[in-house]
Amino acid sequence: MILQVQNLHKSFGGLMAVKDMGLHLDQGEILAVIGPNGAGKTTLLNLLSGLFLPDRGQILLSGHDITRASPEKRCHLGLGRAFQVVRPFLEMTVFENVMVGAMFGKSGISQKEAHRHTEQVLTLTGLEPHAHKNAHDLTLMQDKRLEVARALATRPSVLLLDEVMAGLRPNEAQDAVQLVKKVRDSGVSVLFIEHVMPVVRDLADRVVVMEYGSRLAEGPYQSVVRDPKVIAAYLGEEVS
Ligand SMILES: Nc1ncnc2c1ncn2[C@@H]1O[C@H](COP(=O)(O)OP(=O)(O)O)[C@@H](O)[C@H]1O
Ligand SMILES: [Mg+2]
Repeated sequence: MILQVQNLHKSFGGLMAVKDMGLHLDQGEILAVIGPNGAGKTTLLNLLSGLFLPDRGQILLSGHDITRASPEKRCHLGLGRAFQVVRPFLEMTVFENVMVGAMFGKSGISQKEAHRHTEQVLTLTGLEPHAHKNAHDLTLMQDKRLEVARALATRPSVLLLDEVMAGLRPNEAQDAVQLVKKVRDSGVSVLFIEHVMPVVRDLADRVVVMEYGSRLAEGPYQSVVRDPKVIAAYLGEEVS
């Protein structure tokens, strides 16, 4: 178990955004977190990456208690995150953007090592041909790849993805699915939030459904999408 969340709570004023939430991520696993808008999925990711601190509960990363650790500390311990709204350094090239992540991710890495790692990440994410473009000259799909590349540059053992497929056409989403599978095959465990159900079906080893800040259901895709609770709370109708 590489990531473990127990009894996590986070309220904003009177609103319980995350309530007694628990989940785990196994080594080498791709886990999907789904659920209706406002269910607390992004808040959960913000708690995992250290943007917010929980009111109570515990987060363990590779056995380290990171519940109250800074985002930087979490990054150094192997937690990487790509954002729903991509935000590269626009005045820098693709290569430079990834290089920044590589330098930042692990303390003590030499510039030469960071350079080599950047090249590997650009190859993995298919951005090699665009390495010397400015970040503001990329297409939406390339932007998303760069967001993933920047997170991978920090050498995470766990990658958190918040709706990185949003806005992609179906064939682009399939490319993104292949990319995430390659990332996993390179040794990274993945937790992703996603609304597009075919993507969840094709990518997730296991699915956690959130509603009202809590875990409503959990299991393989095919059992979760047939769960009457999940159909009532989220899907509306049965999906294949
Ligand atoms: N920074 C914040 N301040 C106040 N309320 C927030 C904040 N972030 C999220 N919320 C509220 O918490 C609830 C869960 O939101 P969110 O985690 O974004 O859900 P999801 O990602 O599942 O759509 C929502 O009611 C949302 O309005
Ligand atoms: Mg969200």
